[in-house]
Amino acid sequence: MANLYDGKMAAIYDAMYQTFVNYDEEYIFYNNLIQENNSSTILEIGSGTGNLAKRFQENKQHYQGLDYSESMIEIAQQRNKNCSFIQGDMRDFKLNNPVDAILITGRSTSYLITNDDINKTFEALYRNLTNNGIIIFDFIDANRFIPFTKENPIITHEAEYENVNYIRESHWDTNNFLENFMLEWTAQYYTYINNEKEIIENDFSTVRVFTLNEIQLFLYLNNFEIIKTIDRKTYAYDTYVIVAKKKI
Ligand SMILES: C[S@@+](CC[C@H](N)C(=O)[O-])C[C@H]1O[C@@H](n2cnc3c(N)ncnc32)[C@H](O)[C@@H]1O
Repeated sequence: MANLYDGKMAAIYDAMYQTFVNYDEEYIFYNNLIQENNSSTILEIGSGTGNLAKRFQENKQHYQGLDYSESMIEIAQQRNKNCSFIQGDMRDFKLNNPVDAILITGRSTSYLITNDDINKTFEALYRNLTNNGIIIFDFIDANRFIPFTKENPIITHEAEYENVNYIRESHWDTNNFLENFMLEWTAQYYTYINNEKEIIENDFSTVRVFTLNEIQLFLYLNNFEIIKTIDRKTYAYDTYVIVAKKKI
């Protein structure tokens, strides 16, 4: 697990991603998919600092969040006092009641680095869905992302939140010793105040990107039928969003 989501990094994440991601658009996008499938109970996995939760709650939907990181949940809970957040692992969790739709948002699938992680996650999703249930998740497209990291050794993202400017410099390394399409992601986080760049954190994590074909096969093997595949650009990466339903 990346330390990006722990301790003070959770607060930095929250500040920066408010600029990177338009959570109103994100909510509309996911909620349309949910409404198309008439799902009324929703679980969001990788609910992070609760920005989508806020929109679901404002619209009085039956929403719960689940995240691995206690620090992220703490911020999400402060933002959404009456919302339920579960600390848990998407690879192995059990809800009190199955739900109609499970979302895995914000490319949180990148942390499923082994095939076992992916199969366990799809099994857990299957177990926690109602019979007509659907899953909606995004993933970074390996075919476009890996060439992008080769052409751009340092990728800079800037954000401004509450009058503080932040800079993140990322470097992704493909390493032939790593299985699958895994990358080692190093990121330096800086604040930029009065023309002074000051390092606030170094982060390192191993992430995985996927080809569409392998995701199709993982879903087939775990008894899901794809009903929609959407090619979607996010703030920095080309992703696919998949909607799939449980096969009974
Ligand atoms: C890139 S953030 C996305 C957060 C949020 N969806 C957003 O868009 O702002 C990834 C989130 O996935 C969570 N996460 C990573 N691995 C997880 C796991 N195995 N189970 C549950 N959550 C996990 C992290 O703690 C983090 O909050």
